[in-house]
Amino acid sequence: MKNTVCNPLANICTLLIYIMSATVAAAQPLIPMPRQVEWGEAWLVRASSAPWRTDTVAGLPGEEAYRLEVTPAGVHIEAGAAAGFLRARQTLAALSHGDSLRCCRIADWPEYAWRGAMLDVSRHFFPLAHLYRQVDLLARYKFNRLHLHLTDAAGWRIEIKRYPRLTQQGAWRTDASWKTWWAGDRRYADALTGHGGCYTQDELRALVRYAAERGVVVVPEIEMPAHSEEVLAAYPELSCTREPYGAADFCPGNDSVYTFLENVLDEVLDIFPSADIHIGGDEAGKAAWGDCTLCRRRMAEEGLSDVEELQGYFVRRMAAVLAAKGRRTVSWDETVGAGGFADAAQTAALGARPSIMIWRNPALARDAVRAGCDVVLSPASHCYFDYYQDAPPTQPEAAGGFVTLEKVYAFRPDEGLTADEARHVRGLQANLWAEYVPTPAAAEYMLWPRLLAISEIGWNGDSRAPFADFRRRALAETARLRAEGVQAFDLAAECGERPERSVPVRHMALGAPVKYNLPYHSVYAAAGDGALTDGLRGGWANNDGRWQGFIRGKRFDVEVDLGRRRRVRRVETTFMQACGPEIFYPEMFVVSISDDGEHWTELCRRSEPVRKTAQPDVRRYGWSGRARGRFVRVEATAGAFGGWIFCDEIEVY
Ligand code: ACM
Ligand code: ZN
Repeated sequence: MKNTVCNPLANICTLLIYIMSATVAAAQPLIPMPRQVEWGEAWLVRASSAPWRTDTVAGLPGEEAYRLEVTPAGVHIEAGAAAGFLRARQTLAALSHGDSLRCCRIADWPEYAWRGAMLDVSRHFFPLAHLYRQVDLLARYKFNRLHLHLTDAAGWRIEIKRYPRLTQQGAWRTDASWKTWWAGDRRYADALTGHGGCYTQDELRALVRYAAERGVVVVPEIEMPAHSEEVLAAYPELSCTREPYGAADFCPGNDSVYTFLENVLDEVLDIFPSADIHIGGDEAGKAAWGDCTLCRRRMAEEGLSDVEELQGYFVRRMAAVLAAKGRRTVSWDETVGAGGFADAAQTAALGARPSIMIWRNPALARDAVRAGCDVVLSPASHCYFDYYQDAPPTQPEAAGGFVTLEKVYAFRPDEGLTADEARHVRGLQANLWAEYVPTPAAAEYMLWPRLLAISEIGWNGDSRAPFADFRRRALAETARLRAEGVQAFDLAAECGERPERSVPVRHMALGAPVKYNLPYHSVYAAAGDGALTDGLRGGWANNDGRWQGFIRGKRFDVEVDLGRRRRVRRVETTFMQACGPEIFYPEMFVVSISDDGEHWTELCRRSEPVRKTAQPDVRRYGWSGRARGRFVRVEATAGAFGGWIFCDEIEVY
């Protein structure tokens, strides 16, 4: 739940203090910035041997709130709970210069109760040392949740004593690289011949203890009913087909599945004391369920009208299992509605309010709250750290997208919710899916410094400083991280958005009507019929509302009407390539001109086989010469890979 402060003066105070201390704050690049800070001029030297006083006080907002005073005479901390004292010590650690502390008076509390990061240790297995190091870093920036995505097709990573094949086989695959393995046979192997690994229960217990001592709760995720190919290869009797390989979904009609999952969860709960346990719930194909005798029988017995409702039955049943054991369910946003939690009264009957992790669209948060759930916001648009953080051609291959530090920082978890609904926002989380993250170094590169933005939002909410101030602090913090050996992205060298996106282009066809001989796709309509002559060019994200996408007939064919016969010297356009979402440069590019829109003179024809590229990029295509005409036609044809053609502007000069 959101932690709120009753005193309205507090915000005004924060603002005044923020303004007064701005210059000093620049020298004290704290992240997250404490809510209220008064800097003194003096210093406490030899802080480690100075007197420290701690007092437990009542009436502070939230378990993690604290007050801290540093004077030349010593340190005084007040908090209401252990978590508050811990956060105060983390602030002191951030403030310290050697053994000296600048005098200050701080009153501090977090905006959100859930400030999380998710690591996907399935797609690529990361050694424990990497997890410990991330816990240290998360704690430094006052995160309080580490969500481990422990199971998925690419590898089962947690020892389950009752089902040894989960790790004997499911933790080892035939190729070290997820990309190669996924494009290949998707088979599992064993510890001798395969690639991967798993954590023993004792190793995880030790990690959980270590994190807890630093204020970080480790939340395990066991995927169900989908993303479970590795389980169903090892225990095929749990799928609808009962055949090894080929199934991703458990059979929700089969009672043995519930027994299996309950047994697995019993061992998981014994390792992880977290009140919240994540059961996945995303992207179930459900394809086999409709033809499965057991699934059909279950649907008939339970009065379920389709496979979506069958998923709902499955999710609620597992949530009830967890509730009976005193835990709360966390699940992805596909579990809102028929596929999970639909009715607030029915949800309340569980006795433990589930939390929905919103990833597809922040607007789904409202549906989840209305269905009686809490929410943690981790929308792909702002919180998926497997997306590019800088101009893709300058970056190692990533999953696609474009989520810069600035984009992350712009995220507002409560946006679009009423005050009542916003009370059910527990917080926010960044997710690092690891399909394209093969090593711990690559993981750190994608996490840092973007996690600093999540830290600042999680702690300060909407009262956070303007981005320019935050970026200055993030630059200092990134330099510090890199100096410590953390493989953070070098924010100082950031290229940022495609420059053309912020500079409207002026050309002869600006505002000219465009005739589409093949229509653009409604999902990638950009500004609609005027998009290709509005002077606005696209950025690095193919879904930024500037790129128009074409897939019909594997061709792009548009005519621009210049209004009258004009002298034309140049026609230029830009296409995008992003192989992940199957957007390719065209193989054939043709420019023609006409006086009447019927009889065409071809000005150029360019043909070049399409080659896949690891990173998205954009390329200019054009003609220059001397011609006259009223209509300019641009055609482009997809190559061997088919897919989409994406264009942002037809420029005529
Ligand atoms: C997800 O990205 N499938 C939760
Ligand atoms: Zn079935």
